[in-house]
Amino acid sequence: MLMYNDIVMFFTGILYARGEIMVRISVCVGSACHLLGAHGVLEAFNGLIDKYHVQAKVDMQGNFCQGRCTEGVVIRIDEEIITKVSKEKVHGIFVEKVLDKLSNA
Ligand code: FES
Repeated sequence: MLMYNDIVMFFTGILYARGEIMVRISVCVGSACHLLGAHGVLEAFNGLIDKYHVQAKVDMQGNFCQGRCTEGVVIRIDEEIITKVSKEKVHGIFVEKVLDKLSNA
């Protein structure tokens, strides 16, 4: 049985393959990362996506446990895994990993 998340991931996968989405950000919202502040990290990324008007170029999603619970909050930007992320670190990560990639696209 297909779930809503599967359908969303299918269509964002098509957009990503077509180059319409340039950067994929996923934030682990598993139990450990949730307790370490994943929700704040997710909100911080969403705020920056709005602030820089890059909604059409960035796919933002929450994912379940990435198997690195002791290193939370765990995020993935495209294929790169970044650990020990806090909402205070999000702006720097966004500038370095997302805006830089979009400006070079
Ligand atoms: S809960 Fe985030 S890596 Fe396990």
